[in-house]
Amino acid sequence: MGTAALAGDLGVGGHKRERLKRVTLDLRIRDVRPEDATGVVAIFNPIIQAGIYTAFDAPFTAEGERSYIEALPERAIFLVAERATDSVLVGFQSMEPFATYAHAFAHVGVLGTYVDLRCRRQGVAGCLFQATFQAARAKAYEKLLTYIRADNAPALATYLHQGFRVVGTAQRQAKLGGRYVDEVIVERFL
Ligand SMILES: CC(C)(COP(=O)(O)OP(=O)(O)OC[C@H]1O[C@@H](n2cnc3c(N)ncnc32)[C@H](O)[C@@H]1OP(=O)(O)O)[C@@H](O)C(=O)NCCC(=O)NCCS
Repeated sequence: MGTAALAGDLGVGGHKRERLKRVTLDLRIRDVRPEDATGVVAIFNPIIQAGIYTAFDAPFTAEGERSYIEALPERAIFLVAERATDSVLVGFQSMEPFATYAHAFAHVGVLGTYVDLRCRRQGVAGCLFQATFQAARAKAYEKLLTYIRADNAPALATYLHQGFRVVGTAQRQAKLGGRYVDEVIVERFL
């Protein structure tokens, strides 16, 4: 995919632009918009339908995703990675408070990361993580946490590469097609 480009001017949420990392795709990282719903499900549904990456087990409709985006709570962070050459979405990362039933968890966010299966290993997730870390600090988050299928070694490697540490393994946390799957819980302080 093209020659290496320095994605040094990634606009993050329309705020300050900062130098991130060398990637092989020229990307724009920005806040999601309702009209991105089609692009988001075009990334998400093949990942879900592959059946080996995530505990999500049913595809999303563009209409449903648009409604979800329109109703995002104030402290949600939902960033998309847009390929600069053709404005096609190639990844997204979304994050919400760990729980809203107690203020005690307001400093903890739970996130998910999804990159177009054809665009993996080109630094897309890395750029999304850097932008999400910055946006999360700005919204007073202090810590991020997520659940990764224990059989998803690439995802675990990605999160460890971004400074997350393994908290532990929740056994038989997901039941997919009648088969139990463990989930690894990882965390990172901001
Ligand atoms: C996991 C995922 C988000 C990674 O996105 P990505 O854009 O390919 O990741 P990056 O290119 O930024 O990789 C950054 C680093 O993570 C690690 N990494 C990523 N993919 C890896 C793999 N398949 N094997 C080993 N390490 C890997 C490497 O250290 C990599 O750095 P390097 O390429 O310089 O060696 C992507 O593969 C994906 O969306 N997979 C399907 C959905 C999924 O599993 N999501 C996570 C659900 S919890």
